[in-house]
Amino acid sequence: MQQKISPASAISGDIVLPGDKSISHRYALIAAIAEGPTRIRNYSTGADCHSTLGCVRALGIEVEGAGTEFTIRGRGLEGLRQAAQDLDAGNSGSTIRMLSGILAAQPFRTRIGGDESLSRRPMRRIMRPLAEMGATIGARDDQFPPLEIQGAKLRGIDYALPVASAQVKTCVLLAGLYAEGATSVTEPARSRDHTEIALREFGAEVTVERRKITVAGRGKLTGRELAAPSDLSSAAFFIVAALLAPGSKLGIRGVGLNPTRSALLDFLMGMGARIRVLDLESRNGELVGDLLVEHSELRGGEIAGGLTAALIDEIPVLAVLGAATEEGLTVRDASELRVKETDRIRTVVDNLRRMGVEAEELPDGMAIPGRQKFHAAELDSFGDHRIAMAFAVAALSGDGDSVIHGAEAASVSFPEFWETLGKITSH
Ligand code: S3P
Repeated sequence: MQQKISPASAISGDIVLPGDKSISHRYALIAAIAEGPTRIRNYSTGADCHSTLGCVRALGIEVEGAGTEFTIRGRGLEGLRQAAQDLDAGNSGSTIRMLSGILAAQPFRTRIGGDESLSRRPMRRIMRPLAEMGATIGARDDQFPPLEIQGAKLRGIDYALPVASAQVKTCVLLAGLYAEGATSVTEPARSRDHTEIALREFGAEVTVERRKITVAGRGKLTGRELAAPSDLSSAAFFIVAALLAPGSKLGIRGVGLNPTRSALLDFLMGMGARIRVLDLESRNGELVGDLLVEHSELRGGEIAGGLTAALIDEIPVLAVLGAATEEGLTVRDASELRVKETDRIRTVVDNLRRMGVEAEELPDGMAIPGRQKFHAAELDSFGDHRIAMAFAVAALSGDGDSVIHGAEAASVSFPEFWETLGKITSH
């Protein structure tokens, strides 16, 4: 699908966005191994979270519902059944990595794979700790999906994560639910903590001591009622669009503002962004609030070290923003971007250059000088949802009509993106 984007004069209105992708995955996976039904409201509409539901169903768990509301009838830690066919994680790294932690503990063998992009994503990062816990895992070229997982009785481990990855942390903690004894994961930098929060909501024993998270094995998880907040990483595209367009004033309601995700707001406000956070409350252990964003002149800045891990999904759209700031944006310590749905250093720099924007590709990041103009161009998502949406935002600042090729990729996390963008854009 091709999407034409015309320049915007303002981004304004009041919107509610779909449920958080990270939280939806976790609720569905934990619900499947909890005892009794879990009702989830505001479940992510993204294809990735539907891949997770599909896998859960294929493992014999009843999932009812449609749209944004689902009931998952979990049957306890031992309630999964061997799937009749290979599991399909689609485009979703979260699905394959997190679910593998559960599959590693099952008394059966499972094969799980996904689309072409997923088949190029590194899996050794989960294979190592799961093998240490006792599972046997085969992979294409010993590192890529599809994975062939032979479950076993697992033993608890004390694992130091080599990369800050919430998916890997979650994988090990979910496996830890099945293990003899306690399982600990120590992170090199703090990553999103939705798993720790969700596990506690379901009744698991989780302790956190600085960067070390420990889960007790063989505890009881109980199904419950949950509502996912709206996705801050989806909101990021509209936040940046509103900051860039001169007449903008945009309200976004009920957004997840978990401190391990909200570095985005601190970073933007630190550059001079006019963003107000209103009506903060805690829902199912997650912080939720409303945002009010107004057009702002921004200074520019640097993303490096722990901040890179905290902003990892927002870097494509922040790179777009960087070109319009006073001093530009530098991103370092971000080689993880090269193993996302696409090599996001390359796909961001490629699209920026198509718009006549100067951008330097660095081995572990990029450097984008400030005060640049975006020229209308033919842009490509390269099949990556966040690239499609980031460059829709860039195109709104263009000097004419741009086209995004492969615009359908947005559906991976945000199927309503194009429609919502149309509603809040004035030309
Ligand atoms: C996610 C963790 C991050 C992030 C991804 C979602 C999660 O990936 O990029 O979009 O929900 O745990 P990594 O764990 O690979 O850093």
